[in-house]
Amino acid sequence: MPLGSFQDVPKDLAKEIENLEKQFTVDTAKLKEITDHFKNELEKGLSVEGGSIPMNPTWVMAFPTGHETGTYLALDMGGTNLRVCEITLTEQKSEFDIIQSKYRMPEELKTGDADELWEYIADCLHQFIETHHGDPSKLDKLPLGFTFSYPATQNYIDEGVLQRWTKGFDIDGVEGHNVVPMFEAAIARRGVPIKLSALINDTTGTLIASAYTDTKMKIGCIFGTGCNAAYMEDCGSIPKLAHMNLPPDTPMAINCEWGAFDNEHKVLPRTPYDVIIDKDSPRPGQQAFEKMIAGLYLGEIFRLVLVDLHDNHETPIFANQDISKLRKAYSLDSSFLSAIEEDPFENLSETFELFQTKLDISPNGPELELIRRTAELIGTRAARLSACGVAAISKKKGYTNCHVGADGSVFNKYPHFKARGAQALREILDWPEKKDPKEEDPIEILAAEDGSGVGAALIAALTLQRVKAGLMHGILHPENFK
Ligand code: GLC
Repeated sequence: MPLGSFQDVPKDLAKEIENLEKQFTVDTAKLKEITDHFKNELEKGLSVEGGSIPMNPTWVMAFPTGHETGTYLALDMGGTNLRVCEITLTEQKSEFDIIQSKYRMPEELKTGDADELWEYIADCLHQFIETHHGDPSKLDKLPLGFTFSYPATQNYIDEGVLQRWTKGFDIDGVEGHNVVPMFEAAIARRGVPIKLSALINDTTGTLIASAYTDTKMKIGCIFGTGCNAAYMEDCGSIPKLAHMNLPPDTPMAINCEWGAFDNEHKVLPRTPYDVIIDKDSPRPGQQAFEKMIAGLYLGEIFRLVLVDLHDNHETPIFANQDISKLRKAYSLDSSFLSAIEEDPFENLSETFELFQTKLDISPNGPELELIRRTAELIGTRAARLSACGVAAISKKKGYTNCHVGADGSVFNKYPHFKARGAQALREILDWPEKKDPKEEDPIEILAAEDGSGVGAALIAALTLQRVKAGLMHGILHPENFK
């Protein structure tokens, strides 16, 4: 194997590495600048005029107490899988039982036809109920929390008008429409005994599920295929809801949809690669922040860098090699980057093998070093930018000491993501160095409870409770809550 020592990276490649470092490094001053702008944009999203961050009110109007009970279904239509769960919130405080089935979302559904999507979802639900309860036609209707993790306008908790598809979805005839009737029509056709109690976002679910077991939890985040957060606002601080005359201190969970932060490209340090990602995506001009952070895009940013260094630079990488496999858009996902960052060997032999088996490319030693550094830069930038969002919400709310519940494949699986994010938070918020490494940070981002399962069930339970108490704000179909 032609692996050189990294000390002797040829000058030209060392220059390329330096150049990439310049483009992808976000220093403390920039992090702070982004955070300040972010905080203003959060405010703007809550205003009557609105801004690019949607800041969607969700009609989730309380934190759980831990004493919620009952059995609920939860359906999670995320970016990658479809999951159906049955959750029982038990009599014991903050405890639950869960059974679940996962179904792979066929890739072609994401850019296919709306009817096919709803039929597929109804089929999965039908199959789940049949497996776990027997004949669906003999059952009473079960309350269901539907986790629909896309930006949706909700005048009511049991409706959701899709603002726009994100995460690479592109299905005609759904944007601008309330998805609940489409979903309900499909389950009615299939004879699935369900009544929808709440349409929720995965971040809101994460917030509520995490707060169920830890009352210090104030923000719910997803760092996965997409990237977003939710937190609890006071109705009095939501000017765009002023016409509803809700008591100012009533809580209202806000699904920020912060993936849309800086769609107008004012502060984020975009590289030419980010520009290409955006231009070639189904929704150019949208989700500027998400496209620099989320799992869907990390591998693609990396791929674009390598192709560029092969095609357009004086000393091309992978010279005289066939890079046709590398030319395929979205052929590398973020687990490819994870694997590179996790390669334990000094000579990066695992990375070499990965390139050989997956791409038919045999990188030499210096190229391997460039590959590793590029992965590190992209992963580090994602983690550091993510921290700006958390810092912005914390600053807006005046949180100086709290927990943030986070979920998603990037948060859970991408190497060093947590530590890099924590380091960036420390820089943004000017925390002194820790005395003891075991000491908690003032704001800790921790692994969340299952938001789209337990969180959806809890939100269904909280909504049922609210209706029972006669608090009918944001309820479109009270009859479904009997
Ligand atoms: C995208 C969606 C958002 C979701 C996030 C994480 O940003 O627009 O609704 O919360 O991905 O799944």
